[in-house]
Amino acid sequence: KFDGLAMTPPMGWNSWNKFACNVDEKMIREVADAMVSSGMKDAGYTYINIDDCWHGDRDAEGFIHPDAKRFPSGMKALADYVHGKGLKFGVYSDAGSQTCGGRPGSRGYEFQDALTYASWGVDYLKYDWCNTQGLKAEGAYETITAALRKAGRPMVLSICEWGNDKPWTWGPTVGQLWRTTGDIYNCFDCINDHGSWKSWGVMQIVDKQEGLRQYAGPGHWNDPDMLEVGNGMVVNEDRAHFSMWNMLAAPLITGNDIRKMSPATRDILTNKEVLAVNQDKLGVQGFRFATKDSVETWLKPMADGKWAVTFLNRAKKPRAVDFDWKANPVTDDLSKAQLNAATTTYKVRDLWAKKDEGTTKKPFKATVPGHDVAMLLLWK
Ligand code: GLA
Repeated sequence: KFDGLAMTPPMGWNSWNKFACNVDEKMIREVADAMVSSGMKDAGYTYINIDDCWHGDRDAEGFIHPDAKRFPSGMKALADYVHGKGLKFGVYSDAGSQTCGGRPGSRGYEFQDALTYASWGVDYLKYDWCNTQGLKAEGAYETITAALRKAGRPMVLSICEWGNDKPWTWGPTVGQLWRTTGDIYNCFDCINDHGSWKSWGVMQIVDKQEGLRQYAGPGHWNDPDMLEVGNGMVVNEDRAHFSMWNMLAAPLITGNDIRKMSPATRDILTNKEVLAVNQDKLGVQGFRFATKDSVETWLKPMADGKWAVTFLNRAKKPRAVDFDWKANPVTDDLSKAQLNAATTTYKVRDLWAKKDEGTTKKPFKATVPGHDVAMLLLWK
């Protein structure tokens, strides 16, 4: 793979969660404009990624072309437009014969498609796993990585085989991120049973990250799927969802209509102090430290001895939090980072209230609304 890419979790936007197959060049241009005018670019979001259904047919020589009705100006012109805004451009394909949306897949055309993407100026490839009968995931993703390398343009490779073949065990040398689960959908605590497959609410996805944190780090991330912030949950649920993705050092690929988002949604997505937790250069994924009365305490070690702390209230009703720092010394098994308020006093800041909260000499007390968080930064 290309080294040196995604040294912190990639940040951007993708069309799927909101628009599914309804993609066209006008909308993508408007999203790129909105990325700049909304302050998202300034907050660190970079990638504009088109998901499934941009494809038209292959020509007689096998080259893939975009759907001519939806992308009449072609992909090179669109990539140029996105680059002109100081942003990066991503596309989607599939390791199998067809994408999940029934468009042409890359199977048998990997090296040709990689050349095509490079000629368009693509910076990010999400590579899906539908219609892959007879293929083995690790080998199939190695093939597209080899093809991208041969094409010569550095591209982030987003591995999307839903965690089926333990991609965390081979993904770090093959791509920059790998999906750990099936698809997310815009519900805080639910399972959507489609019969032959399921999609998962935010809490279900969080629980599926258990045991995976040792596989993540700079340049190689667990991907609990794209964000549903702004797609229909209530604001406290969106805040909790976003906080957890930051705690998990997850890629932050937004999935809402950023052209029309509410100020509340924009404020969540562009909270720079929260984003600094995600983008911390140590790149250590957070972990669940304790659970009490539906409130989970999550911790994330950060550079320079800082810690992010999130109290996640999974109940629908408000819960009181009373956390005595001094009585809860922590050593992270993975990073060996230590948090010991009995010997070191930390300053405390509430990252959503944007307010200093004194020090760890006194316990942290708050009432957390249902399906919401209190998210804190501790520093020496
Ligand atoms: C799969 C992926 C989704 C999306 C769709 C597109 O379900 O997991 O993220 O890319 O395919 O069809």
